[in-house]
Amino acid sequence: MTINLSSLMSKYEPKKLADYTTFNIKTMTVIHGYPKGTLTRPLLLVGPAGSGKTQLAKLLAAEIIPDMTPYDIRFVDAAEDPSVKMIKSISQTVHTYARNAQNLRVIILDEAHDFTTQAMASLKGLMTKFPSVDKGVFFILTTNHLSGISEPVRDRCLVLDVPATTVDDVLPMACRVLDGESIPYAIDDLRIALTKDSSGLATFRDMWGVIEDIITRKNMR
Ligand SMILES: Nc1ncnc2c1ncn2[C@@H]1O[C@H](COP(=O)(O)OP(=O)(O)O)[C@@H](O)[C@H]1O
Ligand SMILES: [Mg+2]
Repeated sequence: MTINLSSLMSKYEPKKLADYTTFNIKTMTVIHGYPKGTLTRPLLLVGPAGSGKTQLAKLLAAEIIPDMTPYDIRFVDAAEDPSVKMIKSISQTVHTYARNAQNLRVIILDEAHDFTTQAMASLKGLMTKFPSVDKGVFFILTTNHLSGISEPVRDRCLVLDVPATTVDDVLPMACRVLDGESIPYAIDDLRIALTKDSSGLATFRDMWGVIEDIITRKNMR
């Protein structure tokens, strides 16, 4: 049977916040501080493409409170609609009742640097109305261009750096997938394949590319 990459990704991608592992202590403290209730401000995840910001935002949204429902999470890709109309529509969402007992909604603003100046100003207004989780809205913003986020919006957020991932971060996941699918590999070759250059950096996106190559080669045999 041929295995396809998207089914593999959905099978092995982290499903829970607890599956999200990183060697970065600050990241761990922050992402577990929200469900505990010790952190309540909007969260701005900043880091290079492929570092896992969107993934982290979704996992955190789902677990911010125990009875969070998918209906109470709104995912907005600013790259798709950067207009002020989008922020207006979010503002309508947050004024309706949520389905969880705490009446909390999560708004994920992915690639938030893409919002227009007007949208950014309107977002600032909305964040001023809902400055913290206990006021009923948890904003999670992601960006790889911090300078594209207006200062008033930045100031209202806890800014968390999500550093670029390294070969050591992605290697265990690659092994888990290949072991899980009983695909043989040599660990040294795998490490080399995952290493793009001498920087030691490697993204999960690259890792899936490497896995796809290995599977394709296996299927050709
Ligand atoms: N900790 C992780 N473990 C496994 N896969 C991950 C992890 N973080 C990210 N990924 C995967 O890497 C890819 C890129 O992650 P993504 O969240 O889209 O990055 P970003 O938003 O920073 O560009 C996605 O396929 C995602 O599922
Ligand atoms: Mg992203």
